[in-house]
Amino acid sequence: MKNIAVIGTGYVGLVSGAGISDFGHNVVCADIDKNKIKHLQNGEIPIYEPGLHELVNRNVQSARLLFSSDVNKSIEDADVIFIAVGTPEGENGASDLTAVLEVARAIGKNLNSYKVICTKSTVPIGTGAEISKIINETSNNSIEFDYVSNPEFLREGSAVKDFLWPDRVIIGASNVRAFDIMKNVYRPLYINETPVIQTTIETAELIKYASNAFLSVKISYMNEIANMCDEIGADVHVVSKAMGIDGRISPKFLHPGPGFGGSCFPKDTKALVSMAEKFGTNLNVVESAIAANQLQKERMVKKLFKLLNNDVKGKTIAILGLAFKAQTDDVRESPSINIINALINNGANVKAFDPAANDNMKKLFEDLDTYMSWEETVKDADCVVIMTEWNEFRGINLSKLKELVKHPNLLDCRNILKIDDLEKQGFNYDNVGRKKR
Ligand code: UGA
Repeated sequence: MKNIAVIGTGYVGLVSGAGISDFGHNVVCADIDKNKIKHLQNGEIPIYEPGLHELVNRNVQSARLLFSSDVNKSIEDADVIFIAVGTPEGENGASDLTAVLEVARAIGKNLNSYKVICTKSTVPIGTGAEISKIINETSNNSIEFDYVSNPEFLREGSAVKDFLWPDRVIIGASNVRAFDIMKNVYRPLYINETPVIQTTIETAELIKYASNAFLSVKISYMNEIANMCDEIGADVHVVSKAMGIDGRISPKFLHPGPGFGGSCFPKDTKALVSMAEKFGTNLNVVESAIAANQLQKERMVKKLFKLLNNDVKGKTIAILGLAFKAQTDDVRESPSINIINALINNGANVKAFDPAANDNMKKLFEDLDTYMSWEETVKDADCVVIMTEWNEFRGINLSKLKELVKHPNLLDCRNILKIDDLEKQGFNYDNVGRKKR
């Protein structure tokens, strides 16, 4: 059992801290944001993430998980320190490492015994070396430490499951001592035969970006195939299903949609391209995926306008789904933002509903007219747009929907409604690569 400090209580920090305490270690999740820590100490979880509340409660009750705004003391008391603060987009697409380097300085100043310093935040290649340098410069040189890169692969919406049952654990370490300590942190997974891969620090840093960028490319590729289906009258569901049966392709991440969003793919693809430029190599494929994603978001706006014969002024449009994906309240880089902006700029009235993200979208659009159910939202609408694949939208009763709206126009950007049912009910509809001709 180890004493662990996790610095940063965002998605990655909070889920990792709770997950590691569930593995049997003593964990302090520390953050300089006193208000956030106060809420966490009161049992309030600041994000919507299925299963997180239970995981946190269980470990707080077992006294294995604590929250603290005393970052310095948390560092002093720990054997292993995880850096899990944000790395937002900085200039020219590169990552802004201000918070990470600030934590590195705090670690250096409070290094009172041998510790493993481990980065979970997504950081550019070479950051490990920079962090080690800062710790060396700010600490008493006689105290040893080891640096480890341990990228995280959890997804919002399934973060708890992804953390507790990951496909693999990557540990970039420069010696066996540090690797063994990290292996011990993940012992329950290790004994369960989850692949634990030991690499160099730089390789671990790259694995994270290479994985996220690959998935972004896969999505953009499928979106472009879906757009082609639109033009030739093919059904992208059948195409992707048949493609996915090929084990080399796999059926995952082959769902076309309104373009990828969230806090990771848009930021990490740009950061990887910026790193490639720095190292004098090319990442044309990733650059194209970024461009295709932008076009995909715009394409949804065009589809919507086309459905309404380019006459949106004064029309009432019901947007179902504001989060960038289902099972989260996160609206960062959500394709819904593009749709709402375009509608507002063209004089339409927007009514919106998301089961979890209304409040977050209202931070971006103060006057957004939000509702608490899809039924209220679609009432008297000239068009309904499905933007997020929440289960409650999958189950929409189309005859009831038709009764509620003013005009039965519907754009399904997630391909979740049955085409036969839409046709039977007489909807004027569109989707992403599945429209019958
Ligand atoms: C992503 C990665 O999947 C995680 O492995 C990684 O840890 C995380 O980024 C991160 O770097 O922190 P996340 O952004 O939470 O996770 O969500 P995803 O499920 O990957 O979805 C990303 C975007 O792709 C969403 O907008 C989603 O709607 C879209 N998507 C996903 C598709 O359009 N089609 C698909 O088939 C899959």
